[in-house]
Amino acid sequence: MLLKAALAKAREKGAETEFIGLHEEDVEFCDGCCKCDTTGVCGIDDYMKEIITKILAADAIIFATPTYFGDVSGTMKNFLDRLNPAGIGRKMKGKKVCIIAVGAADPALVERSIETIKLFCKCQLMEVVATMKAKAYATGEVGEDKIREAERLGGLL
Ligand SMILES: Cc1cc2nc3c(=O)[nH]c(=O)nc-3n(C[C@H](O)[C@H](O)[C@H](O)COP(=O)(O)O)c2cc1C
Repeated sequence: MLLKAALAKAREKGAETEFIGLHEEDVEFCDGCCKCDTTGVCGIDDYMKEIITKILAADAIIFATPTYFGDVSGTMKNFLDRLNPAGIGRKMKGKKVCIIAVGAADPALVERSIETIKLFCKCQLMEVVATMKAKAYATGEVGEDKIREAERLGGLL
């Protein structure tokens, strides 16, 4: 919900946007073959190839994740790992990033989800322009104030 609200505001301000729901996609695990370190291309032939093309064409990215046991979801972590080829040759340098993390409980634990994505962005020389946290257990539980905050975040891109 928060990511969609942020994207809607970015669109309103003239951006062309695309929502990618990672859990709906066929994305294999990074197996650490490190072929990308020499070839710049991932050794796994799956939907990530298409996502990387989209990411490299994008001026800005919003990463959004639930918090699972104090960190990003496994889906998000694998996604960041699989983005390694996109960063070879500093191809993601300077891209603007916003980060959204949601958790059901302790906000301090949600902070670590944000830090994990920030670390990825630092390695890739990407520019984190805004982050936000929200509390929710199930879909629909984020408050209107958080929807507004997500819109403000999307408006920054
Ligand atoms: C395996 C698992 C671990 C979780 N661990 C945490 C946690 O450490 N801290 C927290 O605040 N919420 C935790 N949650 C709750 C989710 O972050 C929360 O339900 C979130 O709103 C889910 O977002 P979604 O509906 O976008 O998937 C966990 C949920 C699951 C399924």
